[in-house]
Amino acid sequence: MKTIIEPFRIKAVEPIHMTTREERIEKLKAVNYNLFALKSRDVIIDLLTDSGTGAMSAEQWAAIMRGDESYAGSPSFSRFEAAVRNLMPFEHIIPTHQGRAAEAILFSLLGGVGKNIPSNTHFDTTRGNIEAGGALAHDLVIEEGKDPTNLHPFKGNMNLEKLEAYLTEHGDSVPCVMLTITNNAGGGQPVSLENIQAVAKIAKAFGRPFIIDGCRFAENAYFIKQREDGQGDRSIVDIVRDCFACADGMTMSAKKDGFANIGGWLALNDGDLAELARAKLIQTEGFPTYGGLAGRDLDAIAQGLTEIVDEDYLRYRIRTNEYIIEGLDALGIPVVKPAGGHAVFIDARAWLKDIPPLEYPGQAVAVALYEIGGIRSCEIGTVMFGRQPDGSEIPAAMDLVRLAIPRRTYTQSHADYIVEAFGELAANVDNLRGYRISKEPKLMRHFTCAFEPL
Ligand code: F0G
Repeated sequence: MKTIIEPFRIKAVEPIHMTTREERIEKLKAVNYNLFALKSRDVIIDLLTDSGTGAMSAEQWAAIMRGDESYAGSPSFSRFEAAVRNLMPFEHIIPTHQGRAAEAILFSLLGGVGKNIPSNTHFDTTRGNIEAGGALAHDLVIEEGKDPTNLHPFKGNMNLEKLEAYLTEHGDSVPCVMLTITNNAGGGQPVSLENIQAVAKIAKAFGRPFIIDGCRFAENAYFIKQREDGQGDRSIVDIVRDCFACADGMTMSAKKDGFANIGGWLALNDGDLAELARAKLIQTEGFPTYGGLAGRDLDAIAQGLTEIVDEDYLRYRIRTNEYIIEGLDALGIPVVKPAGGHAVFIDARAWLKDIPPLEYPGQAVAVALYEIGGIRSCEIGTVMFGRQPDGSEIPAAMDLVRLAIPRRTYTQSHADYIVEAFGELAANVDNLRGYRISKEPKLMRHFTCAFEPL
């Protein structure tokens, strides 16, 4: 059969509150054109993030009831630990309430003034946790990964020559080497198994621990299976195990490929480092057998980890993004290619050539998409990255709009609706105007700033 169906039936539904275009024009004015300030009830299709917004399965809800809320030694923890270790063979598995909590603990131990930490591309919370302690975060993704139209199959790969030069230059100031799979900030692009193993080898040669940010490990493994020589006949589980077997630790947000609404973990092989991490965990998150989570959350993750590696699910998951991209491509809308694992990215700078970066073409697309179809997306460009620490403003490297796809949540008709809304947008693209920011906070302005249409 050619049609790739959603490989699930729907057992519980959440009604969508429909709004009219006139209502949405009013809502936009009321929130000063900042989509973060909208009430989710006023959104028809919410593509703000794929984090914690997926649908849990019947077995996950059953696992929730099995959850044991004991403060110490809960069987929920044992099930969680076994499920993680089945895929990622680390010695020490330390639960946290989110991915960024795992990062905060790790970099409170490894970071600090004078330290330098490389990755393909650090996610913004990772960078934030590194920089908060005074260390510097550097991105060493391959050049192909920075070109939205380049069709390289593994655009998330680390530039290995740059990594070696970096480790030679920075020597002992590098406490670890990181790698984000898939590379969210670089368009959800995958990293090949060959590249993961090569990074591990280089880190080892320099005596540095290798830590993987594994948030979207299953999507990454599916791309490896599809695109990497010699991997096509292997199971997703085997590929996942190989990805992590060569690492010394990982950080994880279970809100992505943990199929859960909350949760995360830090895993390490180094017993001394793990002991320090557990002490920090007790101080900031909770006892080591629950971290910042309820026992039921640990059980939901344990079950989720058995479902996320299902190939029928992953095929549907990745196909959804390709399907939307094919629709946008047919409309002549520039998108980041090939399709990433968790999101579709529109290249707003290439599309709205008349709106300069400092008038925020990504924001113009995001606002218009909400007005036309009630679809909430996210600007990832000059609004998010343009303001500099010295107060000046410069264009970001790219002006993208991210349509992040929640897991198991929307169907093909929702995808068709998204493409139709873009069709309407494309027909009126010459009428779009840029924005100016009329009010902004000192840090992370995109969450709360106010915009005015120009
Ligand atoms: N690492 C990556 C690659 C991420 O994408 C995220 C979160 C985190 C770490 C932090 O995890 O949210 O559980 O604290 N990304 C979300 C997003 C927020 O929308 O891309 P968290």
